[in-house]
Amino acid sequence: MIDHKNKLNSDKFIYKDNDILIEVLDNISDAVMINNADAVIVYVNKAYEKILGIPAHKAIGTKLREVEPGAIAIKVMDTGVASHNIVDYIRTANINAVGFSFPIFDSSNKIKGSVSIFNDVTEIKKLKDELNISKEVTKYYQLELEKKHLSQSFSEYICSNYKTKEMLFLASKVAKTDSTVLIRGESGVGKEVLARAIYNESKRNKMPFIKVNCASIPENLLESELFGYDDGAFTGAKKGGKLGKFELAQGGTIFLDEIGDMTFNMQAKILRVLQEKEIERVGGTKTIHLDVRVIAATNRNLESMIEEGTFRSDLYYRLNVVPLNIPPLRERKDDVLIIARNILEKFNKDSAEKITLSTDVIRVLQNYDWPGNIRELQNVLEHANIVRVSNQIEVSDLSKYLLVKNYEEYNELEIKHFKSYNFKENIEVIEKELISEALNRNNNNKSKAIRELGISRRAFYEKLSKYGFEL
Ligand SMILES: Nc1ncnc2c1ncn2[C@@H]1O[C@H](COP(=O)(O)OP(=O)(O)OP(=O)(O)O)[C@@H](O)[C@H]1O
Ligand SMILES: [Mg+2]
Repeated sequence: MIDHKNKLNSDKFIYKDNDILIEVLDNISDAVMINNADAVIVYVNKAYEKILGIPAHKAIGTKLREVEPGAIAIKVMDTGVASHNIVDYIRTANINAVGFSFPIFDSSNKIKGSVSIFNDVTEIKKLKDELNISKEVTKYYQLELEKKHLSQSFSEYICSNYKTKEMLFLASKVAKTDSTVLIRGESGVGKEVLARAIYNESKRNKMPFIKVNCASIPENLLESELFGYDDGAFTGAKKGGKLGKFELAQGGTIFLDEIGDMTFNMQAKILRVLQEKEIERVGGTKTIHLDVRVIAATNRNLESMIEEGTFRSDLYYRLNVVPLNIPPLRERKDDVLIIARNILEKFNKDSAEKITLSTDVIRVLQNYDWPGNIRELQNVLEHANIVRVSNQIEVSDLSKYLLVKNYEEYNELEIKHFKSYNFKENIEVIEKELISEALNRNNNNKSKAIRELGISRRAFYEKLSKYGFEL
């Protein structure tokens, strides 16, 4: 203590012979450090020696600007503003300290030094870091648990967006019931994937899952497709009759895809089946009782169809027991990358290569609006996966039309080509460029160019003549 006092006095920095003050400073558990106007340490207390492991005689005289240029004490002197409760890493002692630091002024209001009072929080910081790590781990396990909760069938439905997750959660709950489900969403959002996941998760998963695409079957055949027919029901009918999709789905699930594309007349028949839970085969007399769960899907706006009088409101209410709306990809951009990576993994599942996306590619994918949703993303990645030259997908591997949408960012495309905002004109510029590139690449071999471009020979020659290429 005498030692301290002498040093303190010798610097004539604070009151001489102030034994009481020194006594107080040496008996507090916080480290105290005083610097002069040149940011040279002129005093440290005993707690400082203990906490930093640096004896006073070594600390005193230290030029802070040289050894701890980032110290809070320096900032305080440079700014003249006190600093409170900031965690500061003290390099020389390898500790994290928290406390406060304030400037001291002389009578003419000039900074004559600073006082720092702090304590070691390394342990606390370590604990905090550990806590953060365990929080991360907990989050990971929670997510895993959530996935388990969503079960195998739904964990294959890749998503990280919270709106999609909420929808999936509802889907997983309804899957276990026999309720009719109506899946809504734009083309390519994954309505069929979801329908299958619901089926896999249901208690009917050992029984059939029968898909009917209501849009692709001609009206005159749809009835016999759905309800089957009896022997001799109509000319050309197969001998012995035929089972309809509903009967094939007995005990299981029928997936009525594109239900919005069904004619008004058929809608009435479907409604009857849903209400009565029985069918009659075409040309048959017997009533067949059905035990079939119905999942329907559509990308059409059923509400406006009802207003227009093209969709029956009674069928709509029957189907809309549990509506599941899959948001379009542009409304869940946070799903784009996770789905893209999953698709790439699937494409390359038999190879040891791990395919990555360059940061520019990531930006393009996230900037794009994906009108064709996940199906379009899949097509874009399939193309990129084929043309890539390394195991990293680059912007040059992407279909050029994607870049048009991103053209403000990507001048590789030579924006000067685009003389207007007119969509058609710009598409023409690109078509011309693609054809010219394909011909160049293939030494003017037209058949090879056609194959690469993936268009018909006729379309190719039409475009050659349209854009004035040599025929
Ligand atoms: N969450 C997902 N993760 C990975 N791939 C997905 C996901 N959802 C859909 N897909 C893929 O996207 C494509 C389109 O999905 P799906 O056929 O289910 O869409 P849809 O909504 O029924 O489209 P449409 O209205 O055109 O019939 C499929 O190839 C499917 O495998
Ligand atoms: Mg579909």
